[in-house]
Amino acid sequence: MSDQLPPWSIDVVTLFPHWLDWMREVRPIRNATEQGSLDLRALDLREHSPLKHRQVDDTPYGGGAGMVLRIDAVVAALEGHYAQELAELRAERRIVVLTPAGRIFDDALAIEWAAERRPTTILCGRYEGFDYRVHEHVATEEISVGPYVLSGGEPAAMAMVDALVRKLPGALGNEGSLDDETFSDALAGGAEYPHYTRPADFRGWGVPEILAGGHHGEIAKWRLAQSAARTERQPPAAAPRDDS
Ligand code: ADE
Repeated sequence: MSDQLPPWSIDVVTLFPHWLDWMREVRPIRNATEQGSLDLRALDLREHSPLKHRQVDDTPYGGGAGMVLRIDAVVAALEGHYAQELAELRAERRIVVLTPAGRIFDDALAIEWAAERRPTTILCGRYEGFDYRVHEHVATEEISVGPYVLSGGEPAAMAMVDALVRKLPGALGNEGSLDDETFSDALAGGAEYPHYTRPADFRGWGVPEILAGGHHGEIAKWRLAQSAARTERQPPAAAPRDDS
């Protein structure tokens, strides 16, 4: 189900490139790669370090706990991997620095970016994060995957890549899965309705009768009502869309 576009290049720059290996073996990454919609790579932050022993971090100016990732190491990694100057790279690629202080990554942003397929590089921080000049002069955007602090950018990058790639054609086994999921237009941006499968009775816990009745129109109405009730009880975490 490849579309005619070139594969979307997403590169994750990290101190732990092998962390991404497992993602390549499973859906949606594997499907999208096989279908030609995705070119996902993990790039080693240390590989082009200009410093001895492939050093990439240093103590913070002004003192304090922890280590900070150096800007010279980051720029060397980018210019080395792409064999391009930073200014050219910034014009060509979206360069995302992951930080809990960034713009929250939500479904609306995933839809927008997956539709554009702008080549994307994701920078994963560790320790105290990046020298702030990386945010100011290297990144084109600062992104957070949620209002909590992770020990590094890698889990955030994986969550983002998964959410982005499942929007690509051929990434999911069943394209219909996207239509009715939480945040979708079909559910007015609300929560997904509940699903049930066999057995019809388990320890006295039954399945709503309407689902076994085969009346598709009634089932659709029931599902919308369930979605609305669940959304009212607990709205999906982020505002799904700005229609203004
Ligand atoms: N690094 C640490 N915490 C993070 C978060 N919540 N989002 C993105 N990157 C992070």
